[in-house]
Amino acid sequence: MEKRSILFVCLGNICRSPVAEGVFRKKAQEANILDRLIVDSAGTAAWHVGKSPDERMMAAADMRGYDLSSLRARQATADDFEKFDHILAMDTDNLYSLQDISPETGKADLRLFLNYAPNRKESDVPDPYYGKVEGFNHVIDLVEEASEGLLAKIKKELSEQNISS
Ligand code: 4NP
Repeated sequence: MEKRSILFVCLGNICRSPVAEGVFRKKAQEANILDRLIVDSAGTAAWHVGKSPDERMMAAADMRGYDLSSLRARQATADDFEKFDHILAMDTDNLYSLQDISPETGKADLRLFLNYAPNRKESDVPDPYYGKVEGFNHVIDLVEEASEGLLAKIKKELSEQNISS
């Protein structure tokens, strides 16, 4: 069974992309497609490699039913463009950083995650790191909405795969 692979990327891989990974995994599990997916997250910076998600994000996520405790930060690499079908950047700065390391041969479809939340006027999931607790909840609101859009796209890809195989 061929799998679809999805990578969420922010700056530190301790706030936005881990919660995107956790939210998307849960929605994929509820849709009964998680066994057909590879879901991961990474940061464009290496500052927090090996660390758990930020405590404030873990607490905000936990309140809404997402357990991020098993996740550990890693840095995005050029290899990720060969391994993943979809790479979702949390904001425009990180999109540019990813474009900088993207190899010519990569298969990944690289885009802003909020492209999958077309009803939102903003294009970036804002960095909550230096802000207040409300900022973490706002990140989760945006991530939940974009995850629904991405899930619809992935379900379509999986059903097209079934027809062609
Ligand atoms: P993230 O948030 O990119 O959503 O993981 C940040 C985490 C750490 C830092 C900045 C943003 N930092 O400056 O250490």
